[in-house]
Amino acid sequence: MTTMTMTSEENIRFASEDDIESIREVENRAFGIHAYDYLTLKYMVTEANSVTVVFDYDKKILAYATVYFRKNSRVAHLESIAVDPIAQGKGIGKVLLKEVEKISINNGCDRMILETFEKNEAALKLYKNSGYEVKEIIENYYTIPYDGSRNAIRLFKYLRNTI
Ligand SMILES: CC(C)(COP(=O)(O)OP(=O)(O)OC[C@H]1O[C@@H](n2cnc3c(N)ncnc32)[C@H](O)[C@@H]1OP(=O)(O)O)[C@@H](O)C(=O)NCCC(=O)NCCS
Repeated sequence: MTTMTMTSEENIRFASEDDIESIREVENRAFGIHAYDYLTLKYMVTEANSVTVVFDYDKKILAYATVYFRKNSRVAHLESIAVDPIAQGKGIGKVLLKEVEKISINNGCDRMILETFEKNEAALKLYKNSGYEVKEIIENYYTIPYDGSRNAIRLFKYLRNTI
């Protein structure tokens, strides 16, 4: 991989069913034991009321994000975002998040909500630096602990006029 800039939004496109295996590889590398399985990812990409985008570089998927929508709701839900560990810390998470926020606005939403492990420092940094605020802490939200905690932090952001 060359060292040219990797964070252009031109690298982002909508995912299709053909991408699920590559998304699963990114998911496994990024989340380890917390990773979604293939069928869940397939549901997220092809069946849910959702949009999944991928970040391509050199014809390889390095990251993905899925946002869920609900009928008659203006609240979008960031279901998942993951960047391959080989590409983390280069701004890809940030541009991917911005892209799903734009897509959510175009789908009529004015808020994004999401949950993350309370000990997931990288994710919390990404979200807080992108304008998200803590809404609540949800105890024992997750099945498998992350760094000793199963608690989630729910964050939100008003999308209009902030992107
Ligand atoms: C969380 C994650 C998506 C961030 O993606 P990324 O591409 O590495 O993040 P970026 O390079 O865009 O960085 C965004 C900001 O977060 C900060 N950040 C990223 N990783 C960090 C880390 N490990 N520790 C501290 N800060 C970190 C960056 O410094 C940057 O801050 P800035 O806005 O001041 O520049 C990525 O680490 C990941 O895939 N983690 C595993 C899966 C996961 O936890 N997903 C989120 C679940 S809710």
